[in-house]
Amino acid sequence: MNKNIRRIDNYKEYFTKEYLMGPNSLRLLDEMLAKYPLKEGSRVMDLGCGAGITSLFLAKEAAVNVFATDLWISATQNARTFEKWGIADSVIPIHADANDLPYATEYFDAIVSIDAYHYFANKKGYMQEKILPYLKKGGSLIIAVPGLKEAPKGEDYEMMMEWFEDDKEAYNEFQTREWWVNLIGKGDDFEVVMDFDLDCFDEAWDDWFKSGHEYGIKDKGYFDKGMGKYLSFIGLVIRRL
Ligand SMILES: C[S@@+](CC[C@H](N)C(=O)[O-])C[C@H]1O[C@@H](n2cnc3c(N)ncnc32)[C@H](O)[C@@H]1O
Repeated sequence: MNKNIRRIDNYKEYFTKEYLMGPNSLRLLDEMLAKYPLKEGSRVMDLGCGAGITSLFLAKEAAVNVFATDLWISATQNARTFEKWGIADSVIPIHADANDLPYATEYFDAIVSIDAYHYFANKKGYMQEKILPYLKKGGSLIIAVPGLKEAPKGEDYEMMMEWFEDDKEAYNEFQTREWWVNLIGKGDDFEVVMDFDLDCFDEAWDDWFKSGHEYGIKDKGYFDKGMGKYLSFIGLVIRRL
């Protein structure tokens, strides 16, 4: 076997505007799983699974059973996709809001959220109230979330605001790693076991630029003006005790 071929290279057909919804979530997930592997056969919620490629990767590469949960993409659309990919037996599509999840408590070995957590979880107490109850004791929450290395100032701040032109409130969803760790805080029933900046940042964004998605093309323009130096992808792993 050629050791230079990485498992992510087998997924290049999904690095397209049809499936990507932002910086390549498969690279983000691949790195998270390399740093924090899941046990084969585990029951996993893919929270904010979008069009389903992260659920595909979880089912194929981690050999886990997935509840592919999303708000903007319907369960019907994802069910059709999972049939087409031949993973319908191990990936169940669920249409739900992360603020009101329809699951039994202490049901999941892990909850994975790739490039989605910032949309719904940037408020104090969210993780403790809305996520933790669904994890078994000893289960893990695995997050890759876009954020800031540092907050831009002056002209660079104006540039970032321009980037968020359609939805300026969305800037509040972009925070530093320290901010996320502080927001999650401390508790007797959980611990933050990892927090780091993902190494695949450049590759993940590059795939997005090359996908030909109109937002990817727009984002590339801002990276060319220097915005990328303020951004990061933040990895967080929290374990329920
Ligand atoms: C940028 S997409 C990423 C999708 C997928 N994880 C990926 O990386 O390919 C963000 C996803 O978060 C989901 N999302 C946003 N708010 C949500 C909420 N309140 N509950 C569940 N999902 C939500 C959206 O439906 C969307 O599919």
